[in-house]
Amino acid sequence: MPKWSMVVFGILLMGCSAPVDTAMKSWHGIGTVHNLEEIIIGRCYNYIRVMNPTVGEKNCSAIWETFRNAFVYKHPCNVNPVDYDAFIRLALHDIPQDKALFWENTKLLVHRYSDKTRRMMPLGETLIGFLADDLDWCGQNESPGINYQSCPTTTECENNPVNSFWKIASESYAKEAVGIVRVMLNGSISDGAFPKNRFFAKHELPNLRKSNISEIQIWVMDNIDGPDR
Ligand SMILES: *[C@@H]1O[C@H](CO)[C@@H](O)[C@H](O)[C@H]1NC(C)=O
Ligand SMILES: *[C@@H]1O[C@H](CO)[C@@H](O)[C@H](O)[C@H]1NC(C)=O
Ligand SMILES: *[C@@H]1O[C@H](CO)[C@@H](O)[C@H](O)[C@H]1NC(C)=O
Repeated sequence: MPKWSMVVFGILLMGCSAPVDTAMKSWHGIGTVHNLEEIIIGRCYNYIRVMNPTVGEKNCSAIWETFRNAFVYKHPCNVNPVDYDAFIRLALHDIPQDKALFWENTKLLVHRYSDKTRRMMPLGETLIGFLADDLDWCGQNESPGINYQSCPTTTECENNPVNSFWKIASESYAKEAVGIVRVMLNGSISDGAFPKNRFFAKHELPNLRKSNISEIQIWVMDNIDGPDR
């Protein structure tokens, strides 16, 4: 085939596929991560076998199934925190006394400090948080039930699968806190160390069980070179 006919062929192909792609990219957020099932099941075994075997036996296949059932084949603006109830029930475990660590705008430092549950156990180092950390996912009514092209941002709709997941994950985590509770906030951030519309203020603080908590320590961390706001 001469080179020019390859080029024409290529242009024709692009012409055919482009409308399909734009039709499927309905949302502004990143689409579901590929291999979501393998990631969740792999992270689950990594957590219960390697990272924190003290949680005991968990059924990682059943955990994946209940997670999937919360959003697959559903409109991605119609997934509520309660849709993860079955998943939460299977994956929930205790937070050891004095190891709860809440945070806002200090994620990297929190995880360096907590050291994979050795020193503290923030939400991202419980099984529930660890499974979903940094992932994007959402469903769609049409086959295959999962949207790999795009997912709604929270601005597009609040009841999207990721936002609803972190709501119930945060609420469940707060309910498990026992003993001394720590909160790590960012003292260098311009719009306030305690943002009233974020997860700690809205979903965690109101769900702490007063009778289980002896003390709350608030750590405000400045960047080493400031500013101290
Ligand atoms: C784990 O869950 C799967 C799927 O729900 C089920 O088929 C299997 O029997 C369960 N395994 C155990 C050991 O309970
Ligand atoms: C606090 O926020 C600033 C600005 O976003 C960021 O550069 C810094 O890493 C944050 N500090 C911590 C401890 O995460
Ligand atoms: C935490 O509080 C709940 C209800 O207030 C209670 O049932 C539970 O036993 C407490 N857990 C611990 C470890 O104290």
